[in-house]
Amino acid sequence: MCVRSVRYAYQRGEGVPTKQAVPEFGEIVASPRVVEVVEPLIEEIRRTILASEVTYEEWGEVIAFLLDVGATGEMPLLLDALFEAAVDVSASRASSASPSAIEGPYYVPDAPMLEPPYVMPQRPDEPGQQLLFAGRVTGADGTPVPAALLDVWQSDGTVPGTYSNVHGDQPDFNLRGRFQTDDRGHYELRTIQPVPYTIPFEGPTGRLLNALGRHPWRPAHFHVKLSADGYRTLTTQIYFAGDQYLDSDSANAVKDELIIAVEPPGGDHPDTAVLNYDFQLQPTPAA
Ligand code: BEZ
Ligand code: FE
Repeated sequence: MCVRSVRYAYQRGEGVPTKQAVPEFGEIVASPRVVEVVEPLIEEIRRTILASEVTYEEWGEVIAFLLDVGATGEMPLLLDALFEAAVDVSASRASSASPSAIEGPYYVPDAPMLEPPYVMPQRPDEPGQQLLFAGRVTGADGTPVPAALLDVWQSDGTVPGTYSNVHGDQPDFNLRGRFQTDDRGHYELRTIQPVPYTIPFEGPTGRLLNALGRHPWRPAHFHVKLSADGYRTLTTQIYFAGDQYLDSDSANAVKDELIIAVEPPGGDHPDTAVLNYDFQLQPTPAA
């Protein structure tokens, strides 16, 4: 089961199967990878407890906090906000694709397949700046990738933004859609410009950020998941130059190469801002 469906199953309360075989009574089945990754983590936590002289009162708060994270369903949110950016950097080190970014907890599979000309599903009076999001998809060597599938999700345009299917009162799959590049690898999507939003701050994740002296805002962004035959799937985000939260993202996930200047409305596009971005995909190794 991949991480996407693990998150999604958890959020829908379906329970999460693990890959671990159940050992016989008395049998020890050490996993070399778990020993390699989790042992140093446990040791680091022990060292911090001792160095910071943690009390039993504080230990009780840790247990209550984690129980609250479980009870509120915020486990994917907490883990994505604190650690996914590091997983993304770790997992994309050897990639020849354009920069990846975190997926975050708000991806919903099976968004509507759009028909050309591509317009994001939206309410009749969808608030926000009209925006044309366009560019090319190529391989790392510049070869155009026709029929690449772009799966895009975004917040709406009212500050703070919200995501359909997750919070707010938008119709399901509002501002979520899938569409393809044309036969020259070009894509073009009409939508509205997302705005900064806050990750939920009334629950345990927000309370922790607050206690750490951090705000809950994320800079505005598009989420894009690209897939094409013969290429590795690329999950990424596009940020907007000038956004006030680029340097203090609550998920600590902004990469400079993913900050793009939007062309403001004017000239032959008087009502519409334009965002141009070209994606490169990494070929899958030959079998
Ligand atoms: C997001 O990109 O939507 C996101 C990332 C981490 C935590 C919460 C939301
Ligand atoms: Fe997001």
